[in-house]
Amino acid sequence: MSKGTFYITTPIYYPSGNMTIGHTYTTVAADTMTRFKKLTGYETYFLTGTDEHGQKIEKKAAETGVTPIQYVDRIVAETKDLWKLMNIGYDDFIRTTEDRHVKIVQKIFRQFYEQGDIYKAEYEGMYCTPCESFWTPTQLAEKDGVKVCPDCGRPCQPMKEESYFFRMSKYQDWMIDYIEQHPDFIQPASRANEMINNFLKPGLQDLCVSRTSVKWGVPVDFDPAHTVYVWIDALSNYITALGYGTDHDELYRKFWPADVHLVGKEIVRFHTIYWPIMLHALGLPLPRQVFGHGWLLFGADRMSKSKGNVVYPGPIVARYGVDALRYYLMREMPFGADGNYTNESFLTRTNADLANDLGNLVSRTVAMIEKYFGGVLPAWDEAGYVAEEDDALREHCAALPGLVEAQMDKLQFSQALTEIWKVIGECNKYIDLTQPWVLGKDPEKQARLANVLLNLAECVRFAAVLIGPFMPNTPDRIYAQLGVTDDSLKTWDSLSSFGRLPAGLTVRKGEALFPRIDVKKELEILAADTAPAAPEKKAEAPKEKKDNAKKHEEPEFPEVIAFDDFAKCKMQVARVLTCEKVEKSTKLLRFRLSFGADGERTILSGIAKYYDPAALVGKQVVAVTNLAPRKIAGEESQGMILSALDNAGNLRLMSVMEGVEDGAIIG
Ligand code: ME8
Ligand code: MG
Repeated sequence: MSKGTFYITTPIYYPSGNMTIGHTYTTVAADTMTRFKKLTGYETYFLTGTDEHGQKIEKKAAETGVTPIQYVDRIVAETKDLWKLMNIGYDDFIRTTEDRHVKIVQKIFRQFYEQGDIYKAEYEGMYCTPCESFWTPTQLAEKDGVKVCPDCGRPCQPMKEESYFFRMSKYQDWMIDYIEQHPDFIQPASRANEMINNFLKPGLQDLCVSRTSVKWGVPVDFDPAHTVYVWIDALSNYITALGYGTDHDELYRKFWPADVHLVGKEIVRFHTIYWPIMLHALGLPLPRQVFGHGWLLFGADRMSKSKGNVVYPGPIVARYGVDALRYYLMREMPFGADGNYTNESFLTRTNADLANDLGNLVSRTVAMIEKYFGGVLPAWDEAGYVAEEDDALREHCAALPGLVEAQMDKLQFSQALTEIWKVIGECNKYIDLTQPWVLGKDPEKQARLANVLLNLAECVRFAAVLIGPFMPNTPDRIYAQLGVTDDSLKTWDSLSSFGRLPAGLTVRKGEALFPRIDVKKELEILAADTAPAAPEKKAEAPKEKKDNAKKHEEPEFPEVIAFDDFAKCKMQVARVLTCEKVEKSTKLLRFRLSFGADGERTILSGIAKYYDPAALVGKQVVAVTNLAPRKIAGEESQGMILSALDNAGNLRLMSVMEGVEDGAIIG
């Protein structure tokens, strides 16, 4: 029986160029959530698509010598191929050029006009052609005395035309009220404050909703000189795709309001102000939640098609498989926060989490069952149970589905994976603790050995079920090794108690789930395949030698700095998760640091001479976290750990006194 319906959407992307790893990020998140909800018993509907109208597409097509529809048809076909490659199981893919969409957009526009929400007036403003955006004087940025687009930094031109406007101002107070009354509507919550303080309280401008200068769009049917401009066209997709406004609106009636619109943070405003106002004006219920996630950055910049600094998923998937990339995207940064994409962090994480933690656990478990029980799963045997050794692991594993669901309900993908990996880590420790290879030598310890291996195999089964939404190809590969063929052992319900693996299953060691990657070698290959040349060059850092020499010199400080300059520097307390020597260097240590709720990052520090890396694990240090990332000895360092010289000339790490949480801001 279904627990209810769950409707999730991604933005509809501009098919002005091929989809990047940034678009892939949102789409994988939506797919993962859909699969999780399906696993846990919901009837799901997952919509994605493309936003195909507008001047930018018109121009791109003209440059390529094809018609706009020919241009977008090709990109859409490639987008669908990419989503197939990424294992994206959407239920519908809406294109704004489809009849089913165009007709309803026209109908909605007409209704707004007839009920007085839309009026005609003259529009004057500064316009950014690549971004297709008008900007008010206060929104514009300035570069070298020129007014530029705050999004892409390119010059804007003054423009004037007759347009229709949506009377947003009329709904401003209602909107403020709604957001304040519905604290879950905008997530993360900080974005709600931003909407209220930056856009609603200062006064909501009426929104320009038509153009006469853009031909490639939905015609306003009662005034054909005009085409519907961007947001009414784009946002309506979330209901036109469900058949809203037609006489076959079953999906609309079943799935609307959406449970969550996933969007990048730059379009939260349109989804949490304009879209709700449009829906309200139509007399329709609002989506339950809009989640504005952060950006995947490349260096200090957002990847974007209009800036041309992009990474595409294709080459990465071709080399390491789709599940490794999906895992990385969902694990690397907390959903909501920005994070840097680097090939290196991808490779390092794949090795650490997938090849080592998960891969080793599966292969060791299966290998030991082969070695000690001829590859056949023994029966549970009370005589082999040792409470002090087994209970913690078994209880932790039994609690895992609940822990994962709690995180998924908050769309905290990374935290959900962290919970799963805690159990995987605990299993690996349990192997060290119970030492099956010692038990295996003692014929009297057979029952104990059987239970140890069963506990491990059962934990592996739990992990396989729970990682499915994130990595859809991996569970079957694990089930094949464990010999699990019964589908009822692959369900959410089968995780309601621990210890269901039946005796007699035949395990079979397969190839490594995630072969270990030679990071250095692969980096060179990927650099040629994926990296956009220009920004990569800029990130080239000074050589290690020069760098360290500089650090030891007495720096020259200005006598006084403005408080604001100090305030720009973000310093945080961090806990050392791992610390190791950097192979190619005698001076560098590689730190993996936890910043609590702010996630993790890797920082290199030139203190190898002064500390034993193992002794630093678990210690708290202080790091600057908003420095532009830089490459040191070919590796990216995402910040700087603070240290000071002692009297003997040794570098000493800075730390904090007791009771300070990881991630705490210093200042
Ligand atoms: O804005 N990091 O389309 P778009 C994270 N058509 N997410 C990223 C990203 C990155 N570097 N790059 C892209 C539009 N995205 C409109 C939307 S909706 C009614 C209309 C993702 O092609 C993220 O979800 O510019 C972002 O909001 C979206 O792609 C922008 O896609
Ligand atoms: Mg955009």
